[in-house]
Amino acid sequence: MIQVKNLYHSYSEDDNYAVDNISFEIKKGEIFGFLGPSGAGKSTTQKILIGLLSHQKGQILLDGQAVDFKSRERLNEIGVSFEIANVYKKLTGLENLEFHAKMYKGQTADPLSLLDMVGLKDAANKKAGEYSKGMLQRLVFARSMINNPKIWFLDEPTSGLDPTTASKIKSIIKQKQKEGTTIFLTTHNMFTADELCDRVAFLNDGKIVALDTPRNLKLEHGQKLASVEYEKEGKIVKETLSMSQADSVEKLYEIMKKGHVDTIHSQEATLEQIFIKLTGRGLEE
Ligand SMILES: Nc1ncnc2c1ncn2[C@@H]1O[C@H](COP(=O)(O)OP(=O)(O)OP(=O)(O)O)[C@@H](O)[C@H]1O
Ligand SMILES: [Mg+2]
Repeated sequence: MIQVKNLYHSYSEDDNYAVDNISFEIKKGEIFGFLGPSGAGKSTTQKILIGLLSHQKGQILLDGQAVDFKSRERLNEIGVSFEIANVYKKLTGLENLEFHAKMYKGQTADPLSLLDMVGLKDAANKKAGEYSKGMLQRLVFARSMINNPKIWFLDEPTSGLDPTTASKIKSIIKQKQKEGTTIFLTTHNMFTADELCDRVAFLNDGKIVALDTPRNLKLEHGQKLASVEYEKEGKIVKETLSMSQADSVEKLYEIMKKGHVDTIHSQEATLEQIFIKLTGRGLEE
């Protein structure tokens, strides 16, 4: 659906690239994730794709055609939830959505139902300037659904939200995918990426260092581990053993043969561990 080929972006318009020769494809109806630490270039990429930053170098194709960033039709088809809440502070939450709805042609969603979906129904008539950070974030998220977008861009949709609210937002995202929406999601949260994304691109210093399904990334780059708790000479011993090294598999076998195992479970690598393996840095740095 969306193809990006050899995309670059330099804020200083020189050879210093915030986005440095990235290529990827987003398939129709998938949740495609961009995972990377702060400063990796996630928001920059999103901003280029939605036409908010100038398109300097590289190709961006939508259904095989070069994207026309000035097209009104295109704006009607996309929804964007920004990282920073850019709402009208003097308008209420409801008024913000009503105002936004007027910008679109065609059927728009009911503002109050959207506010209800994100848990802001009771705050609908409160000025956005009086909203908390998390409430503003949910308002921007709700607003991005107003035009029932076919392509939905979400920049850190759950960062800083409490677990219950974050899980509500995640289930809305999954629901929208079921309804056929194509979703581009950027995050530095590996759990969000793992839980939601069909495929994930690891972004580091403006470059894609890996791109696959979370499962394949783990199978390809992660080590399978088994953690075992067992009794040895009257004491409880805890060990984590690699399942890809013959000597530790042998050791696990020996422990099991003695029959003193209390618990045993397999452990898979997390996306963060794989990210560190590939880039030498963590996602929260
Ligand atoms: N308006 C700007 N002017 C100049 N440089 C910028 C601007 N916005 C971002 N950058 C630089 O571009 C690089 C990528 O930034 P970007 O905001 O895309 O990162 P990000 O992956 O979204 O990070 P975060 O997780 O912190 O949101 C960084 O080095 C940043 O300093
Ligand atoms: Mg960002």
